[in-house]
Amino acid sequence: MFSKYKKAAPPQKPTLVPASNGARDTQPKPAAPAAPAPAAPKAMRKPMAPAKPGVPVAADKNRKRKERLGEIKLELHRALLDNLNLAALDSASEQDLRMEINSIATEVLQEKGIVLNREERSQLNQELYDEVKGLGPLESLLKDDTIADILVNGPQQIFIERNGKLELSDVTFKDERHLLRIIDKIVSAVGRRVDESNPYVDARLQDGSRFNAMVPPIAVDGSLVSIRKFKKDKLGIDELVKFGAFSEEMAAYLQAAVACRLNVIVSGGTGSGKTTTLNALSSFIDNSERILTIEDTAELQLQQTHVGRMESRPANVEGKGAVSQRDCLRNALRMRPDRIIVGETRGEEVIDMLQAMNTGHDGSMTTIHANSARDGVSRLENMVAMAGIEMPLKAVRSQIASAVHLIVQASRLQDGSRRMVSITEVTGMEGEVISMQEVFRFQRVGLAPDGKIIGHYTATGVRSHYSERFKQWGYDLPPQIFEPIAAE
Ligand SMILES: Nc1ncnc2c1ncn2[C@@H]1O[C@H](COP(=O)(O)OP(=O)(O)OP(=O)(O)O)[C@@H](O)[C@H]1O
Ligand SMILES: [Mg+2]
Repeated sequence: MFSKYKKAAPPQKPTLVPASNGARDTQPKPAAPAAPAPAAPKAMRKPMAPAKPGVPVAADKNRKRKERLGEIKLELHRALLDNLNLAALDSASEQDLRMEINSIATEVLQEKGIVLNREERSQLNQELYDEVKGLGPLESLLKDDTIADILVNGPQQIFIERNGKLELSDVTFKDERHLLRIIDKIVSAVGRRVDESNPYVDARLQDGSRFNAMVPPIAVDGSLVSIRKFKKDKLGIDELVKFGAFSEEMAAYLQAAVACRLNVIVSGGTGSGKTTTLNALSSFIDNSERILTIEDTAELQLQQTHVGRMESRPANVEGKGAVSQRDCLRNALRMRPDRIIVGETRGEEVIDMLQAMNTGHDGSMTTIHANSARDGVSRLENMVAMAGIEMPLKAVRSQIASAVHLIVQASRLQDGSRRMVSITEVTGMEGEVISMQEVFRFQRVGLAPDGKIIGHYTATGVRSHYSERFKQWGYDLPPQIFEPIAAE
């Protein structure tokens, strides 16, 4: 029944499977010589002889056993790759494939006289399955919901991020070829290619996770892979307040700002929580509005009913078919949006974004990479300049000043916590300079012995530039929200 998943055995191909069983086919075969089992197909899947009851072993013995297991795994991987017809696997049912893997593993283990306990055996089978069907060593990390990011620096080093902290995992690839094979598997599934002439690639995994890879020779010490795991349940406003990402007062202010259609930019460093914040802020948009989202990799999960999602597309291998965020944005303007949300503004689309914000699509939102509100504005200026728009700086600035109302600064602090460290209003122009005022900030006061940052959120005491607008829209925020909290 599994012959379709099996490669036609090349003559004299060296394999780990014993000669008597080497040419696997659908015919029932006697099992390994040591075990004269009934000649039914099930014989191949005969459960292993029960492992000897676990004897307490010394650490050294344990380590040796682990090493041995690692070697067996490598051999089995090879045996599987030699024996399975990988192209036919796509149509294989999970159950069939698991049975086939189990049967090959049983043969090899029997041939080598290796006895594994039930737990080791099922772990081995799972790893082999992941190798053949999934993304190999990455699979277990992808399934672990406590992991947010996976960062591969060559085959022997895989870092993971948990609770905002990076740690080295104990998972590795066999070698660079193994890593390249998994990368290739991911990118070819989305119709891309990565090789020496095309050494980096962006893709989206099946589960929605964001994937980037760069291969040698550009990646000097082996391929570099970065994965931002897709979080099925994005953090909402309540959770963010609960986790201390911002205060209730800030949440009330942001609710008013989004509902009153202020144009908001979420600024922050890489992995600081920009997309999460943007997503949470979008929950304040009224359900009756038509929202169009534009992203390079679709990550946003809006709760509203009337949402149109767009994802840009890079050129294909022939260099054709690219659809940029700017193309999507231009088209979006013809699609009668009430609001436009651009996942991240990083290039020429900035022009259209600013124009949209200035011309009737207020209430639009985006994120940018910057370390402070002031930096964010300079970044916007630079992006406009790099888009080739010849405009005097003052004109660019005044366009930014009238387009952007609010900059929310997200940051990942050294203790791994992600916080909204500042909310700044853009109030207009003073001469050649864009004027801004900070309304809320995270006041850092010290460091606890366990490395946690001590601090609190506070208003800065300035009156919101948009108070009147809030009032007109029915959001009469209590004045206490804007009162600063003194440090203890
Ligand atoms: N306040 C928070 N508390 C805990 N985890 C958070 C918080 N904000 C974001 N995260 C988690 O941090 C990770 C990075 O968040 P996010 O994708 O929003 O960052 P980003 O700034 O958009 O990153 P990038 O620059 O790569 O686009 C995600 O796994 C997210 O779930
Ligand atoms: Mg992001």
